[in-house]
Amino acid sequence: MTPACGERPKLLVVANRLPVSAKRTGENSWFLEMSPGGLVSGVTAQFDTKWVGWPGVDVYDEVGKNALSKALAEMKCIPVFLEEVFDQYYNGYCNGILWPILHHMGLPQDDHHDTNKTSQTQYDAYKKANRLFLDVIIDNYEEGDIVWCHDYHLMFLPQYLKEYNSKIKVGWFLHSPFPSSEVYKTLPSRSELLRSVLTADLLGFHTYDFARHFVSTCTRILGVEGTHEGIVDQGRVTRVAVFPIGIDPDRFIRTCKLPEVIQQMNELKERFSGKKVILGVDRLDMIKGIPQKYLGFEKFLEENPNWRHKVVLVQIAVPTRNGVPEYQKVKTQVHGLVGRINGRFGSVSSLPIHHLDCSVNFNYLCALYAIADVMLVTSLRDGMNLVSYEFVACQEAEKGVLVLSEFAGAGQSLGAGALLSKNRLIILGFFGTLTEPMHRRTKEMDLKLNPEVKGTLEALCNDPKTTVVVLSRTGRNILDQIF
Ligand code: G6P
Repeated sequence: MTPACGERPKLLVVANRLPVSAKRTGENSWFLEMSPGGLVSGVTAQFDTKWVGWPGVDVYDEVGKNALSKALAEMKCIPVFLEEVFDQYYNGYCNGILWPILHHMGLPQDDHHDTNKTSQTQYDAYKKANRLFLDVIIDNYEEGDIVWCHDYHLMFLPQYLKEYNSKIKVGWFLHSPFPSSEVYKTLPSRSELLRSVLTADLLGFHTYDFARHFVSTCTRILGVEGTHEGIVDQGRVTRVAVFPIGIDPDRFIRTCKLPEVIQQMNELKERFSGKKVILGVDRLDMIKGIPQKYLGFEKFLEENPNWRHKVVLVQIAVPTRNGVPEYQKVKTQVHGLVGRINGRFGSVSSLPIHHLDCSVNFNYLCALYAIADVMLVTSLRDGMNLVSYEFVACQEAEKGVLVLSEFAGAGQSLGAGALLSKNRLIILGFFGTLTEPMHRRTKEMDLKLNPEVKGTLEALCNDPKTTVVVLSRTGRNILDQIF
């Protein structure tokens, strides 16, 4: 049925992972928690939204599956059970092959990947997984619904949906970067995947560069035409556009005012009193540049003995994709570096790096963001990196420094250009993609910058209460410029 006049259109948001964490508490009972994020808060207000995705757990028995489906339905979530293909699809093709290519890293040189047989099995599992998503959508689709597919896990879904019913409105959004055609070309199934996403009506990317790479890749590999609207192939237009994701800054600002969080902030300040706190919050992924961050910090301590024992780097390294060999390697590498650096520069009472292999709860995360003097984002490549926004939102009292890799999508949203002044790189720009409260905050910065840029820059550099956004290639050689 098409929505009646005045009714909100129905949107099926399809992503590999549902925005819910599920824990089994009994044979037919589950504990579910919604994980609010930019996407969740952004779309639910405008549409009657349902979510379709993998529930994040393997469930092999029908009793468990039925109970979970029932509990999820109350949260407008519909599960896709992927047990039969999960390892080859998720650890294999998605995160062992597509993820490194999309992040400009090429195919991993690993015995696990270099045989045709292995990659063929993974590719087949990927297609099968996309078909399992299709089956669930077909069971839940009603005429007039919009289907919005997300990310590199679901590149065959647009084609499968259009083959099922060419009238379904389909969007596809990529949350990761899209690399230059020279890198993308290394993927054996390059043409099939492109042809499939081009069957969608609208394709979205975080940044202009990613969209431009995508369009030129399509023109080079498929010979189609790229126009200002997107891609034209035999008269059919697929629109390509840029929609940078943001956060809900109010949620962070509100949380920082909770008594419990203020108490946590005070405890943290007490714990690190007399020291500058540098914070890192990343999934333990090779794209996040955590080894490079540690090497940069080691060099800083090596070259600035006066800073030893006066600065601490707190790194929350959230475990992720443990089934992929590349992730296991980076974890071992990072642990080795932490041991070496703490061994070299630590003492019985003070360690330079506090590395935690875990996630922290939301309130504690906000307390950490709020008390940090520096946030260090050293991504080698990154789709957007919302951690950068979250830090700025929480910096109400401290006004610290965000060191942001130019290879994260946020580097394009957060600034229009960079200037070097008084040994600091300062971004002049605006938070074009952020919602109202963040705009207000940055407008204050802009006002300060507009009248007399040069003089104001000097004032900014000397004012410890200003949030300064610093752009850097990696963390290397830059920490000494901040303090
Ligand atoms: C990136 C991807 C997302 C993914 C997230 C967490 O941001 O673009 O699609 O959900 O990482 O990774 P995971 O593999 O744990 O879902």
